[in-house]
Amino acid sequence: IDIKKLRGATDGVITIDPGYKNTGSCESAITFLDGEKGILRYRGYSIEELAEKADFLEVAYLLIFGELPTQQQLDKFDQDIKSHSVVDDDIKKILDAFPKSAHPMGVLSSLTSALTAFYPSSVDVSSEEEMYKAIVRILAKFPVLVAWTLRKKNGLPLDYGDNKLGYVENLLKMMFKNPSGDYEQNPILVNALDKLLILHADHEQNCSTSTVRIAGSSHAGLFVSLASGISALWGPLHGGANQAVLEMLEAIKEDGGDTKKYMAKAKDKNDPFRLMGFGHRVYKNFDPRAKIIKIAADEVLADLGVDDPILDIAKALEKEALEDPYFVERKLYPNVDFYSGIIYRAMGIPLEMFTVMFAMGRLPGWISQWREMRMRNEPIGRPRQLYIGETHRPFKAIDKR
Ligand code: ACO
Repeated sequence: IDIKKLRGATDGVITIDPGYKNTGSCESAITFLDGEKGILRYRGYSIEELAEKADFLEVAYLLIFGELPTQQQLDKFDQDIKSHSVVDDDIKKILDAFPKSAHPMGVLSSLTSALTAFYPSSVDVSSEEEMYKAIVRILAKFPVLVAWTLRKKNGLPLDYGDNKLGYVENLLKMMFKNPSGDYEQNPILVNALDKLLILHADHEQNCSTSTVRIAGSSHAGLFVSLASGISALWGPLHGGANQAVLEMLEAIKEDGGDTKKYMAKAKDKNDPFRLMGFGHRVYKNFDPRAKIIKIAADEVLADLGVDDPILDIAKALEKEALEDPYFVERKLYPNVDFYSGIIYRAMGIPLEMFTVMFAMGRLPGWISQWREMRMRNEPIGRPRQLYIGETHRPFKAIDKR
Protein backbone atom coordinates (compact mmCIF):
# COMPACT_ATOMS: atom_id res chain seq x y z
CA ILE A 1 0.00 0.00 0.00
CA ASP A 2 1.19 3.51 -0.81
CA ILE A 3 1.53 5.06 2.68
CA LYS A 4 0.03 8.31 1.37
CA LYS A 5 -3.14 6.40 0.55
CA LEU A 6 -3.14 4.18 3.65
CA ARG A 7 -6.30 5.66 5.14
CA GLY A 8 -8.37 5.39 2.00
CA ALA A 9 -7.13 1.88 1.21
CA THR A 10 -7.75 0.53 4.70
CA ASP A 11 -10.97 2.26 5.53
CA GLY A 12 -9.61 4.59 8.17
CA VAL A 13 -6.31 3.17 9.44
CA ILE A 14 -3.82 5.80 10.57
CA THR A 15 -0.50 5.55 12.40
CA ILE A 16 -0.01 7.10 15.84
CA ASP A 17 3.51 8.24 16.65
CA PRO A 18 3.62 10.92 19.37
CA GLY A 19 6.66 13.14 18.96
CA TYR A 20 7.11 11.64 15.45
CA LYS A 21 9.79 9.34 16.85
CA ASN A 22 9.64 7.06 13.81
CA THR A 23 7.78 9.12 11.26
CA GLY A 24 9.45 10.77 8.30
CA SER A 25 7.66 13.92 7.18
CA CYS A 26 9.38 14.50 3.86
CA GLU A 27 12.14 13.51 1.45
CA SER A 28 15.05 15.91 1.65
CA ALA A 29 18.41 16.32 -0.10
CA ILE A 30 19.85 18.82 2.36
CA THR A 31 21.26 17.20 5.51
CA PHE A 32 22.35 13.62 6.15
CA LEU A 33 22.39 12.45 9.74
CA ASP A 34 23.33 9.02 11.05
CA GLY A 35 22.53 9.12 14.75
CA GLU A 36 23.95 5.66 15.44
CA LYS A 37 27.34 6.43 13.94
CA GLY A 38 27.41 10.14 14.83
CA ILE A 39 27.68 11.38 11.22
CA LEU A 40 26.40 14.76 10.06
CA ARG A 41 26.76 16.10 6.50
CA TYR A 42 25.36 19.15 4.72
CA ARG A 43 24.70 18.38 1.03
CA GLY A 44 27.20 15.52 1.29
CA TYR A 45 30.03 17.49 2.92
CA SER A 46 31.08 16.41 6.41
CA ILE A 47 30.43 18.85 9.22
CA GLU A 48 34.03 18.44 10.40
CA GLU A 49 35.42 19.60 7.04
CA LEU A 50 32.94 22.45 6.66
CA ALA A 51 33.63 23.74 10.18
CA GLU A 52 37.34 23.74 9.44
CA LYS A 53 37.48 24.97 5.86
CA ALA A 54 34.35 26.96 4.98
CA ASP A 55 32.86 30.18 6.28
CA PHE A 56 29.26 30.68 7.34
CA LEU A 57 28.12 32.48 4.19
CA GLU A 58 29.55 29.72 1.96
CA VAL A 59 27.74 27.14 4.07
CA ALA A 60 24.51 29.15 3.84
CA TYR A 61 24.84 29.14 0.03
CA LEU A 62 25.60 25.42 0.03
CA LEU A 63 22.57 24.57 2.17
CA ILE A 64 20.17 26.77 0.26
CA PHE A 65 21.31 26.14 -3.33
CA GLY A 66 22.84 22.68 -3.03
CA GLU A 67 26.44 23.34 -4.19
CA LEU A 68 29.46 25.13 -2.78
CA PRO A 69 29.61 28.52 -4.53
CA THR A 70 32.33 29.55 -6.95
CA GLN A 71 34.08 32.80 -5.96
CA GLN A 72 31.90 34.66 -8.45
CA GLN A 73 28.68 33.15 -7.10
CA LEU A 74 29.74 33.89 -3.54
CA ASP A 75 30.60 37.52 -4.36
CA LYS A 76 27.22 38.04 -6.01
CA PHE A 77 25.40 36.41 -3.08
CA ASP A 78 27.32 38.60 -0.65
CA GLN A 79 26.57 41.77 -2.66
CA ASP A 80 22.88 40.89 -3.02
CA ILE A 81 22.65 40.40 0.74
CA LYS A 82 24.48 43.64 1.45
CA SER A 83 22.17 45.61 -0.81
CA HIS A 84 19.26 44.66 1.47
CA SER A 85 20.83 45.28 4.85
CA VAL A 86 18.80 48.36 5.79
CA VAL A 87 15.80 47.66 8.01
CA ASP A 88 12.74 49.92 7.89
CA ASP A 89 13.05 52.58 10.59
CA ASP A 90 9.59 51.80 11.97
CA ILE A 91 10.93 48.41 13.14
CA LYS A 92 12.86 50.43 15.72
CA LYS A 93 9.57 51.77 17.08
CA ILE A 94 8.27 48.22 17.51
CA LEU A 95 11.49 47.25 19.26
CA ASP A 96 11.20 50.32 21.47
CA ALA A 97 7.77 49.20 22.65
CA PHE A 98 9.17 46.03 24.23
CA PRO A 99 10.17 46.16 27.90
CA LYS A 100 13.92 46.00 28.43
CA SER A 101 13.37 42.76 30.36
CA ALA A 102 11.73 41.00 27.36
CA HIS A 103 13.38 37.72 26.44
CA PRO A 104 15.33 38.28 23.19
CA MET A 105 13.78 35.19 21.57
CA GLY A 106 10.28 36.65 21.93
CA VAL A 107 11.52 39.94 20.53
CA LEU A 108 13.32 38.28 17.60
CA SER A 109 10.31 36.19 16.67
CA SER A 110 8.03 39.26 16.75
CA LEU A 111 10.39 41.41 14.70
CA THR A 112 10.93 38.69 12.10
CA SER A 113 7.18 38.35 11.75
CA ALA A 114 6.77 42.14 11.61
CA LEU A 115 9.14 42.35 8.63
CA THR A 116 6.33 40.84 6.56
CA ALA A 117 4.34 44.05 7.01
CA PHE A 118 7.19 46.16 5.69
CA TYR A 119 8.17 43.89 2.80
CA PRO A 120 4.83 42.44 1.61
CA SER A 121 6.34 41.31 -1.69
CA SER A 122 8.27 38.68 0.29
CA VAL A 123 5.05 36.86 1.15
CA ASP A 124 3.73 35.62 -2.15
CA VAL A 125 6.75 33.95 -3.70
CA SER A 126 5.64 31.80 -6.56
CA SER A 127 8.69 32.29 -8.80
CA GLU A 128 12.28 31.33 -8.06
CA GLU A 129 13.31 34.95 -8.57
CA GLU A 130 10.87 36.19 -5.90
CA MET A 131 12.04 33.41 -3.61
CA TYR A 132 15.68 34.48 -4.08
CA LYS A 133 14.81 38.08 -3.23
CA ALA A 134 13.00 37.06 -0.03
CA ILE A 135 15.98 34.87 0.90
CA VAL A 136 18.69 37.53 0.47
CA ARG A 137 16.45 40.05 2.21
CA ILE A 138 16.10 37.97 5.35
CA LEU A 139 19.76 36.92 5.34
CA ALA A 140 20.58 40.64 5.29
CA LYS A 141 18.10 41.88 7.86
CA PHE A 142 18.19 39.04 10.38
CA PRO A 143 21.69 39.87 11.74
CA VAL A 144 20.54 43.48 12.15
CA LEU A 145 17.54 42.30 14.19
CA VAL A 146 19.81 40.01 16.26
CA ALA A 147 22.22 42.88 16.96
CA TRP A 148 19.46 45.38 17.71
CA THR A 149 17.82 42.97 20.13
CA LEU A 150 21.07 42.89 22.08
CA ARG A 151 21.73 46.63 21.73
CA LYS A 152 18.27 47.48 22.99
CA LYS A 153 18.91 45.28 26.05
CA ASN A 154 22.20 47.07 26.62
CA GLY A 155 20.68 50.52 26.04
CA LEU A 156 22.89 51.16 22.98
CA PRO A 157 21.88 53.08 19.82
CA LEU A 158 20.29 51.01 17.05
CA ASP A 159 22.47 51.49 14.01
CA TYR A 160 24.36 49.50 11.39
CA GLY A 161 27.71 47.80 11.01
CA ASP A 162 30.06 48.10 8.09
CA ASN A 163 29.15 46.51 4.76
CA LYS A 164 32.82 46.21 3.83
CA LEU A 165 33.19 43.51 6.47
CA GLY A 166 32.42 39.82 6.10
CA TYR A 167 29.04 38.51 7.30
CA VAL A 168 30.19 37.29 10.70
CA GLU A 169 32.59 40.18 11.33
CA ASN A 170 29.79 42.60 10.57
CA LEU A 171 27.44 40.76 12.93
CA LEU A 172 30.00 41.05 15.73
CA LYS A 173 30.54 44.73 15.00
CA MET A 174 26.81 45.43 14.99
CA MET A 175 26.41 43.62 18.29
CA PHE A 176 29.34 45.06 20.18
CA LYS A 177 30.48 48.40 18.79
CA ASN A 178 30.40 51.18 21.32
CA PRO A 179 28.18 54.28 20.96
CA SER A 180 30.89 56.10 19.02
CA GLY A 181 31.01 53.22 16.53
CA ASP A 182 34.32 51.68 17.53
CA TYR A 183 34.88 47.96 17.65
CA GLU A 184 38.16 46.12 17.39
CA GLN A 185 37.81 42.81 15.56
CA ASN A 186 39.34 39.83 17.28
CA PRO A 187 40.11 37.06 14.74
CA ILE A 188 39.72 34.43 17.48
CA LEU A 189 36.14 35.51 18.10
CA VAL A 190 35.34 35.78 14.38
CA ASN A 191 36.67 32.29 13.80
CA ALA A 192 34.87 30.81 16.82
CA LEU A 193 31.55 32.40 15.92
CA ASP A 194 31.88 31.33 12.28
CA LYS A 195 32.41 27.75 13.45
CA LEU A 196 29.50 27.85 15.92
CA LEU A 197 27.12 29.23 13.30
CA ILE A 198 28.20 26.56 10.77
CA LEU A 199 27.68 23.78 13.33
CA HIS A 200 24.16 25.05 14.04
CA ALA A 201 23.23 25.76 10.42
CA ASP A 202 21.02 22.73 9.77
CA HIS A 203 19.95 19.53 11.42
CA GLU A 204 17.29 18.00 9.17
CA GLN A 205 13.76 17.64 10.55
CA ASN A 206 14.25 18.90 14.13
CA CYS A 207 11.42 20.63 16.02
CA SER A 208 11.99 24.19 14.73
CA THR A 209 12.74 23.12 11.14
CA SER A 210 9.65 20.94 11.01
CA THR A 211 7.72 23.94 12.33
CA VAL A 212 9.10 26.15 9.55
CA ARG A 213 8.20 23.53 6.93
CA ILE A 214 4.73 22.92 8.28
CA ALA A 215 3.93 26.64 8.66
CA GLY A 216 5.27 27.27 5.15
CA SER A 217 3.32 24.34 3.74
CA SER A 218 0.17 26.47 4.00
CA HIS A 219 2.03 28.90 1.69
CA ALA A 220 2.43 31.40 4.51
CA GLY A 221 5.40 33.63 3.66
CA LEU A 222 9.04 32.96 4.43
CA PHE A 223 9.40 35.50 7.24
CA VAL A 224 6.40 34.30 9.25
CA SER A 225 7.40 30.68 8.72
CA LEU A 226 10.82 31.57 10.15
CA ALA A 227 9.17 33.38 13.06
CA SER A 228 7.30 30.15 13.86
CA GLY A 229 10.63 28.31 13.81
CA ILE A 230 12.18 30.84 16.18
CA SER A 231 9.34 30.28 18.65
CA ALA A 232 9.79 26.51 18.44
CA LEU A 233 13.54 26.85 18.96
CA TRP A 234 13.08 28.87 22.15
CA GLY A 235 12.07 25.93 24.38
CA PRO A 236 14.64 24.37 26.73
CA LEU A 237 14.21 20.92 25.19
CA HIS A 238 15.43 22.37 21.87
CA GLY A 239 17.52 25.52 21.23
CA GLY A 240 16.78 26.97 24.66
CA ALA A 241 18.98 24.20 26.06
CA ASN A 242 22.12 26.33 25.55
CA GLN A 243 20.80 28.88 28.06
CA ALA A 244 19.56 26.11 30.35
CA VAL A 245 22.99 24.40 30.30
CA LEU A 246 24.77 27.53 31.48
CA GLU A 247 22.15 28.14 34.17
CA MET A 248 22.61 24.54 35.32
CA LEU A 249 26.41 24.76 35.36
CA GLU A 250 26.23 28.05 37.28
CA ALA A 251 23.81 26.51 39.80
CA ILE A 252 26.17 23.54 40.31
CA LYS A 253 29.08 25.92 40.83
CA GLU A 254 27.10 28.04 43.33
CA ASP A 255 26.14 24.85 45.15
CA GLY A 256 29.80 23.96 45.72
CA GLY A 257 30.56 22.14 42.46
CA ASP A 258 29.30 18.72 43.59
CA THR A 259 28.67 17.16 40.16
CA LYS A 260 27.86 13.72 41.65
CA LYS A 261 24.87 15.20 43.49
CA TYR A 262 23.46 16.50 40.18
CA MET A 263 24.20 13.23 38.40
CA ALA A 264 22.10 11.50 41.06
CA LYS A 265 19.28 14.04 40.61
CA ALA A 266 19.31 13.48 36.84
CA LYS A 267 18.89 9.73 37.34
CA ASP A 268 16.15 10.05 39.97
CA LYS A 269 12.83 9.46 38.21
CA ASN A 270 11.00 11.35 40.97
CA ASP A 271 13.09 14.44 40.34
CA PRO A 272 12.20 16.52 37.25
CA PHE A 273 15.85 17.62 36.91
CA ARG A 274 17.54 16.54 33.68
CA LEU A 275 21.14 16.99 32.74
CA MET A 276 20.70 19.83 30.25
CA GLY A 277 22.81 19.49 27.11
CA PHE A 278 22.65 15.69 27.33
CA GLY A 279 20.66 13.33 25.19
CA HIS A 280 19.28 13.72 21.72
CA ARG A 281 16.31 12.35 19.84
CA VAL A 282 18.47 11.14 16.95
CA TYR A 283 22.05 10.79 18.21
CA LYS A 284 22.61 7.56 20.06
CA ASN A 285 26.32 8.20 19.88
CA PHE A 286 28.48 11.29 20.28
CA ASP A 287 26.95 14.37 18.67
CA PRO A 288 29.74 15.19 16.17
CA ARG A 289 29.06 18.90 16.68
CA ALA A 290 29.67 18.57 20.43
CA LYS A 291 33.11 17.04 19.76
CA ILE A 292 34.14 20.03 17.62
CA ILE A 293 32.67 22.56 20.05
CA LYS A 294 34.42 21.01 23.04
CA ILE A 295 37.80 21.48 21.34
CA ALA A 296 36.82 25.00 20.24
CA ALA A 297 35.80 25.90 23.83
CA ASP A 298 39.22 24.86 25.08
CA GLU A 299 40.96 26.86 22.34
CA VAL A 300 38.86 30.00 22.66
CA LEU A 301 39.19 30.16 26.44
CA ALA A 302 42.95 29.59 26.20
CA ASP A 303 43.34 32.19 23.42
CA LEU A 304 41.33 34.75 25.33
CA GLY A 305 43.11 33.90 28.56
CA VAL A 306 39.79 33.13 30.27
CA ASP A 307 39.81 30.66 33.14
CA ASP A 308 36.18 29.66 33.54
CA PRO A 309 35.51 27.17 36.35
CA ILE A 310 32.28 26.05 34.73
CA LEU A 311 34.30 24.48 31.89
CA ASP A 312 35.81 22.14 34.51
CA ILE A 313 32.34 21.37 35.87
CA ALA A 314 31.12 20.60 32.34
CA LYS A 315 34.06 18.27 31.71
CA ALA A 316 33.53 16.51 35.05
CA LEU A 317 29.83 15.94 34.25
CA GLU A 318 30.70 14.58 30.82
CA LYS A 319 33.30 12.20 32.23
CA GLU A 320 30.95 10.92 34.94
CA ALA A 321 28.08 10.48 32.46
CA LEU A 322 30.25 8.50 30.03
CA GLU A 323 31.06 6.04 32.85
CA ASP A 324 27.57 5.89 34.35
CA PRO A 325 25.36 2.88 33.45
CA TYR A 326 22.19 5.06 33.45
CA PHE A 327 23.61 7.33 30.73
CA VAL A 328 25.44 4.53 28.91
CA GLU A 329 22.34 2.30 28.66
CA ARG A 330 20.19 5.17 27.40
CA LYS A 331 22.95 6.32 25.04
CA LEU A 332 22.90 9.85 26.45
CA TYR A 333 25.88 11.89 25.22
CA PRO A 334 26.60 15.63 25.28
CA ASN A 335 24.76 17.42 22.48
CA VAL A 336 25.67 20.58 20.53
CA ASP A 337 24.48 22.82 23.33
CA PHE A 338 26.58 21.38 26.13
CA TYR A 339 29.69 23.43 25.37
CA SER A 340 28.41 26.22 23.08
CA GLY A 341 27.24 28.46 25.96
CA ILE A 342 30.71 28.39 27.49
CA ILE A 343 32.11 29.88 24.27
CA TYR A 344 29.30 32.44 23.96
CA ARG A 345 29.94 33.52 27.53
CA ALA A 346 33.69 33.89 26.88
CA MET A 347 32.80 36.05 23.87
CA GLY A 348 30.83 38.42 26.10
CA ILE A 349 27.40 37.37 24.81
CA PRO A 350 24.78 37.57 27.57
CA LEU A 351 23.00 34.39 28.66
CA GLU A 352 19.58 35.34 27.29
CA MET A 353 21.09 35.86 23.83
CA PHE A 354 22.46 32.31 23.52
CA THR A 355 19.36 30.91 21.82
CA VAL A 356 19.25 33.96 19.55
CA MET A 357 22.76 33.01 18.39
CA PHE A 358 21.46 29.51 17.69
CA ALA A 359 18.65 31.04 15.61
CA MET A 360 21.23 33.11 13.70
CA GLY A 361 23.11 29.91 12.87
CA ARG A 362 19.99 27.92 12.00
CA LEU A 363 18.64 30.62 9.66
CA PRO A 364 20.14 29.19 6.41
CA GLY A 365 18.95 25.70 7.37
CA TRP A 366 15.40 26.90 7.92
CA ILE A 367 15.52 28.84 4.64
CA SER A 368 16.86 25.87 2.69
CA GLN A 369 14.22 23.53 4.12
CA TRP A 370 11.44 26.02 3.40
CA ARG A 371 12.73 26.50 -0.16
CA GLU A 372 13.00 22.77 -0.75
CA MET A 373 9.46 22.26 0.54
CA ARG A 374 8.07 24.98 -1.75
CA MET A 375 10.08 23.88 -4.80
CA ARG A 376 8.96 20.27 -4.38
CA ASN A 377 5.42 21.54 -4.14
CA GLU A 378 4.80 19.57 -0.99
CA PRO A 379 1.23 19.19 0.26
CA ILE A 380 0.01 21.06 3.32
CA GLY A 381 1.25 19.46 6.55
CA ARG A 382 -1.72 18.13 8.43
CA PRO A 383 -1.23 15.22 10.88
CA ARG A 384 -4.12 13.02 11.97
CA GLN A 385 -5.06 12.10 15.53
CA LEU A 386 -6.68 9.32 17.50
CA TYR A 387 -9.76 10.81 19.14
CA ILE A 388 -10.09 9.70 22.79
CA GLY A 389 -12.77 12.14 24.00
CA GLU A 390 -16.49 11.75 24.70
CA THR A 391 -18.74 10.04 22.15
CA HIS A 392 -21.82 11.91 21.00
CA ARG A 393 -23.89 13.44 23.78
CA PRO A 394 -26.94 15.68 23.74
CA PHE A 395 -26.56 19.39 24.53
CA LYS A 396 -27.40 20.34 28.14
CA ALA A 397 -29.11 23.66 28.84
CA ILE A 398 -27.08 25.91 31.15
CA ASP A 399 -29.48 25.52 34.12
CA LYS A 400 -29.15 21.70 33.90
CA ARG A 401 -25.30 21.52 34.08
N1 ACO B 1 19.06 13.75 31.73
C1 ACO B 1 18.59 12.62 32.35
N2 ACO B 1 17.87 11.66 31.74
C2 ACO B 1 17.60 11.84 30.43
C3 ACO B 1 18.05 12.96 29.72
C4 ACO B 1 18.81 13.93 30.40
N3 ACO B 1 19.25 15.03 29.77
N4 ACO B 1 17.63 12.89 28.43
C5 ACO B 1 16.93 11.74 28.35
N5 ACO B 1 16.91 11.09 29.55
C6 ACO B 1 16.31 9.78 29.83
C7 ACO B 1 14.79 9.88 29.91
O1 ACO B 1 14.36 10.14 31.23
C8 ACO B 1 14.38 8.51 29.40
O2 ACO B 1 14.59 7.60 30.45
P1 ACO B 1 13.62 6.30 30.62
O3 ACO B 1 13.85 5.47 29.39
O4 ACO B 1 14.09 5.67 31.88
O5 ACO B 1 12.22 6.85 30.72
C9 ACO B 1 15.40 8.20 28.31
O6 ACO B 1 16.59 8.95 28.70
C10 ACO B 1 14.98 8.61 26.91
O7 ACO B 1 14.67 9.99 26.91
P2 ACO B 1 13.42 10.66 26.16
O8 ACO B 1 13.02 11.90 26.87
O9 ACO B 1 12.38 9.63 25.90
O10 ACO B 1 14.11 11.02 24.77
P3 ACO B 1 13.57 12.05 23.71
O11 ACO B 1 14.17 11.64 22.41
O12 ACO B 1 12.09 12.21 23.78
O13 ACO B 1 14.18 13.47 24.16
C11 ACO B 1 15.72 15.25 24.51
C12 ACO B 1 15.37 14.01 23.68
C13 ACO B 1 14.49 16.21 24.56
C14 ACO B 1 16.85 16.00 23.82
C15 ACO B 1 16.12 14.83 25.93
O14 ACO B 1 17.27 14.01 25.89
C16 ACO B 1 16.35 16.02 26.87
O15 ACO B 1 15.40 16.52 27.47
N6 ACO B 1 17.64 16.50 26.99
C17 ACO B 1 17.93 17.66 27.78
C18 ACO B 1 17.58 18.93 27.00
C19 ACO B 1 18.53 19.19 25.86
O16 ACO B 1 19.74 19.14 26.01
N7 ACO B 1 17.97 19.55 24.70
C20 ACO B 1 18.75 19.92 23.51
C21 ACO B 1 18.63 18.89 22.45
S1 ACO B 1 19.69 19.26 21.11
C22 ACO B 1 18.92 20.50 20.31
O17 ACO B 1 17.74 20.61 20.22
C23 ACO B 1 19.76 21.47 19.74
